[in-house]
Amino acid sequence: MTLSRPRAFRSLFVLLAGTCIPVLASGALGAPDNTGADGGARQGIPTSVSYEGFALVRATARTLREQMTLDAMGQMASCRGGVGVPVDYILSPQSLAALRMTGIPHTVLNANIETLLRAERDEIARRASQRDLAWFNNYHPLAEIETYLAQLVATYPTMASSFNVGTSPGNDGVQYTMRGIAVSGPDTPQNPRANRPQLFFNACQHAREWISPATATFIADQLLEKYATDARVRALLDHVEFLIIPVSNPEGYVYTWTSERLWRKNRRNNGDGSRGVDLNRNWSYQWGLNSGSSPSTGNETYRGPSAFSEGETQRLRDFITASPRIRAHIDFHSYGQLILSPWSYALGVPPDNSAFAEMNPQIRQAILNVNLKQYTAGPGGSTLYLASGTAPDWTFGQRGIWGWTIELRDAGVEGFILPPDQIIPTGRENLAGVMVLGEYVAQPFRFSFPDGLPAAWPTATAQNIRVVASNNNNGEISPTGGRVYYRPASGGTFVSSVMVYDGSGQFTATIPGQACLEPIQYYFEVASTDGRVARYPSQAPVPGSVLSRATSGTEQNLFADDFETDRGWTYATAGDNATTGRWVRCDPEQNAAQPADDFSNPGTLAAFTDCRAGGSVGDFDIDNGTTTLTSPAINATPPEGFTASEIYVSYARWYSNDQGSAPGQDTMPVEISSNNGATWTALETVNENLNAWTVKTFRVSDFVTPTATLRVRFVARDLGSGSVVEAGVDDFRVFANGCPCRADFNNDGTSDFFDYLDFAAAFAAEDAAADFNGDSVVDFFDYLDFVAAFDEGCE
Ligand code: ARG
Ligand code: ZN
Repeated sequence: MTLSRPRAFRSLFVLLAGTCIPVLASGALGAPDNTGADGGARQGIPTSVSYEGFALVRATARTLREQMTLDAMGQMASCRGGVGVPVDYILSPQSLAALRMTGIPHTVLNANIETLLRAERDEIARRASQRDLAWFNNYHPLAEIETYLAQLVATYPTMASSFNVGTSPGNDGVQYTMRGIAVSGPDTPQNPRANRPQLFFNACQHAREWISPATATFIADQLLEKYATDARVRALLDHVEFLIIPVSNPEGYVYTWTSERLWRKNRRNNGDGSRGVDLNRNWSYQWGLNSGSSPSTGNETYRGPSAFSEGETQRLRDFITASPRIRAHIDFHSYGQLILSPWSYALGVPPDNSAFAEMNPQIRQAILNVNLKQYTAGPGGSTLYLASGTAPDWTFGQRGIWGWTIELRDAGVEGFILPPDQIIPTGRENLAGVMVLGEYVAQPFRFSFPDGLPAAWPTATAQNIRVVASNNNNGEISPTGGRVYYRPASGGTFVSSVMVYDGSGQFTATIPGQACLEPIQYYFEVASTDGRVARYPSQAPVPGSVLSRATSGTEQNLFADDFETDRGWTYATAGDNATTGRWVRCDPEQNAAQPADDFSNPGTLAAFTDCRAGGSVGDFDIDNGTTTLTSPAINATPPEGFTASEIYVSYARWYSNDQGSAPGQDTMPVEISSNNGATWTALETVNENLNAWTVKTFRVSDFVTPTATLRVRFVARDLGSGSVVEAGVDDFRVFANGCPCRADFNNDGTSDFFDYLDFAAAFAAEDAAADFNGDSVVDFFDYLDFVAAFDEGCE
């Protein structure tokens, strides 16, 4: 192997004194000496010279000597150089290795230029193979759309066929055949077309929404064209079939071309001088609601005299009903840039919203990625407005077909009169959205999670997640083909582990413990026996299509008291003036205002305002004033080595003030002090009468700064006359939640020899706690990791 630079080097970056002729200028690449022995090179791009492994590096020479070193190592790619200036160089792998040893500051901009060249060659070839898209530079009347569809069928005879769903009613005297185009990969004996699930798209129920038939036609066109060159389209078309009807309201569409550009409805003669039924209010599912449709003939949302009164909706209904392989449906409209899932007729979502919850954000993201156009995704009724008797409500509500309305461009500037130069961009972005939906329909399985997905999980604790894969499209589970992928949200590559299969559709994924408070990203994958895979989320690991979860820190108690022993609380404070029912540590006796037991388990004692039940509920309760329970001073500073920690106060409390003749007269302030009781800040003012122990947790920093002299007090009182007040406190804790020092194996707040002993014991017992590196096995690497952490110690 030669270490010399490729010969094309100099022609890539031509440097002249003071001037810089940019890369890829005419001539430079077409030079005959670069043409490969095969005579070149697709599209005149030389392919015989490879830049495999050559990097583009930005380096800054600090001295003239360093600059000379750099110049000798590689080819300058910047227009200007000099000491102290960042300069780009193209470096061979060997030069890059040498540069690393010099210590000259640099960053690698691209590790392998050949990947760029390869992508450029592919893109040029792809573009050159494309037919002229000029037809999509303008809108077309019905007859031209039909001619175009016929041409597509003639051009792609093995993939496209036309179908018709019958004729329109002829309200203006002419009946039109309602035509569609079916698009799928070629029918083969191994992969019969008749086995493929279908997606049904219709457009132009509303006559004036011209971008919708244009987009539907564009999608058909591009699927057909890209099959030959785009692996993703090919994989999709080999597993699903698209059924596309660009003009669902042909009579209305013709009318917008001949007479009235902004006509919306069909052309029914309503017999009262008005014309037209809103076809998208005429479908039978929840037809006839006045919220979202109109009974008035002259209204733009006139729903018709009965559900499916219109020939157009009848034709579409009968076609869908006769096509049991249809799994998904999109009804294209304009305008608004919206992706609307059910329901339209009501606010809210259907009982099984899982497909929509999964698809809405992924379709939105795919559309966004193409031209950075924001489409809003959500349930139709709440995202846009109520509309009853719509097509997608019927396809989903009546037929179980996942149904959407997509409102195409724009977001409300030119509206229905969208300039024709937006047809292709609108088509491209929606093709991307449709691909995502198609791939969802095509995937062999769908996923469900019997226990849900965890909301958050504790640091360093492995999580088991049950994953059920059910057939979606000819999927037979490969028992060893289930994997879970995960990585820290901060980056890195996904690692995966096999999910354990139970033989009947259910996998168990185990995600090992993660670094403390480091959110993770994850997704699932199940393979079918024929080598396809399904993922959850379906587009994973595309950005935005992975699951992500926060990991919570671990808790460490700084003070914990179950009141079974005396931990230094003060039960009486100067100024307390209650004459009965003062705080004591005791075992409560039940009456209408008191519990039968303390809160702790095990345990019997709590702090209480006199535990005795007495003969009537008013005996031994608080009377005539205040009684105060005050904690000892607590060191509420984070423990040694505990980082990112938050300090919390938590307690179980009992409060009763709804018995007796004057209920609800009193409250119990709970207060916190960070200065040993000199001043107090309210934590809560209790007035609930739950007749139950209730656990409350507060983050200290929301109230006061946690200090080494934190105190909490409970001010129970009977200020009104005649009311019965009882209060209790149990299981009082101050704890830190954060990231413990890893060397503090036993979580006692210090790292010492006992951590070593405890780890060694857990390791010997192969206890899961000894899985120190969180990889789900206890092995020598855990031992090494622990020793390393122990050597580091805690701050
Ligand atoms: N613009 C469409 C129409 O009025 C939208 C209907 C879809 N759903 C909805 N909830 N608005 O027919
Ligand atoms: Zn519409």
